[in-house]
Amino acid sequence: MDTDIAPLRQLLYVSSSNPRGAQIDVAKVVEQSRHNNALDGVTGLLWSDNTRFLQVLEGTAESVGTTFARIKQDPRHHAIVVLHDRPIEKRQFGSWTMAQRRPGDNADAFDEQMRRALENASESVRGNFLGLIAARG
Ligand SMILES: Cc1cc2nc3c(=O)[nH]c(=O)nc-3n(C[C@H](O)[C@H](O)[C@H](O)COP(=O)(O)O)c2cc1C
Repeated sequence: MDTDIAPLRQLLYVSSSNPRGAQIDVAKVVEQSRHNNALDGVTGLLWSDNTRFLQVLEGTAESVGTTFARIKQDPRHHAIVVLHDRPIEKRQFGSWTMAQRRPGDNADAFDEQMRRALENASESVRGNFLGLIAARG
């Protein structure tokens, strides 16, 4: 994705799985996202512990806008709060990555994986992700 010409946008939000909905199937979300984002040229990172989500989306202003408009309407989560939405000069995430921590996963290995994924991210993005991970129960 080094060939972007249009101005890029980066949006970061948090949300919670909808307590009124059925248990969220994160694998399904990942499958949909991987497919759509590849087509739309959207990159970023989605973190989930099955209850909360933190996602960064980056791409052209238009592709991030249409993707986030769909995500906002998704009844599987709610309480969506945009932490930042700003123009960026280049992508901080070259691909689309999902980090999901499942019960029983090795916490240190997971944290290490996240740190690696965040290597090129700005301070504020990294701070938000690492802060949320540190707050895990
Ligand atoms: C936490 C969360 C994150 C999501 N992230 C994405 C995403 O990055 N890209 C995407 O296309 N859909 C994402 N979705 C799914 C969209 O809300 C929507 O269901 C999907 O884009 C519809 O795709 P379809 O028309 O191909 O079925 C996400 C949903 C949730 C609950």
